[in-house]
Amino acid sequence: MKQATQYTEADVKELNDQLRGKSAEEIVRWAGETFGPEIKFANSFGAEDVVLQDVIAKVAPAVRVFTLDTGRLNDETYEVMESVRFKYSDIPIQVMFPEREKVESLVREKGFYSFRDSVDNRRECCAIRKVEPLKRALADARAWMTGLRRDQSVTRTDTEAVEWDEGNGILKLNPLVEWTNDDVWNYIKQHNVPYNRLHDQGYPSIGCAPCTRAIKPGEDIRAGRWWWENPEYKECGLHH
Ligand code: ADX
Ligand code: SF4
Repeated sequence: MKQATQYTEADVKELNDQLRGKSAEEIVRWAGETFGPEIKFANSFGAEDVVLQDVIAKVAPAVRVFTLDTGRLNDETYEVMESVRFKYSDIPIQVMFPEREKVESLVREKGFYSFRDSVDNRRECCAIRKVEPLKRALADARAWMTGLRRDQSVTRTDTEAVEWDEGNGILKLNPLVEWTNDDVWNYIKQHNVPYNRLHDQGYPSIGCAPCTRAIKPGEDIRAGRWWWENPEYKECGLHH
């Protein structure tokens, strides 16, 4: 097995060729067999992620799971977290919190809603509450897994099943990359997977409470995330 730093662009292409046409379950099984506990799944407890949690429990239980608790999540998100913790009790969930001093100085200097003032301020808050804890979570991993799907947004149309994550210096796996929203919901219903009940209230994509709102019929599925910003800025630094 290669060390993380040994993956070249050609290796990543080869892995994508090898996994193309495989089901999400096959990709997750391959990930478990290849990396074991050295791959970590980033679980936000959104619809895609509860699907992946269920697949992992069934075919790759050695994969480690973590979540980023930004301190600004909806209560409904903690509720589904708790249901998932209970249902898949053999799989511990590592909860990552932001660095206390950084959050304390952010709110002391800029208040509780600085992210509304500018894209830079918004990115600063995401950097403190999400990106730095993500880096810490991945420090002991050789690869990570996410629930990214290609058709989620204009910023994700080029996403591949296997990518080289330059920022974290490890491989990134996106087993649901080819799934549609309907595929996700069919799986949830068929396998009776616990899900965030905000999804039933017009929230297809859920992040932090103050930065997520319900969408209107016909709106883009990420229209409720950082709704005051232009679509091309709507990434928090976890993925771009
Ligand atoms: S975000 O970058 O805009 O917040 P999104 O909510 O679409 O991302 O989630 C995409 C993927 O990023 C999820 O499937 C999950 O793997 C990871 N992710 C996002 N937020 C979190 C979180 N709070 N904890 C763990 N993983 C997360
Ligand atoms: Fe801060 Fe909003 Fe980013 Fe959450 S989504 S970390 S509250 S800016």
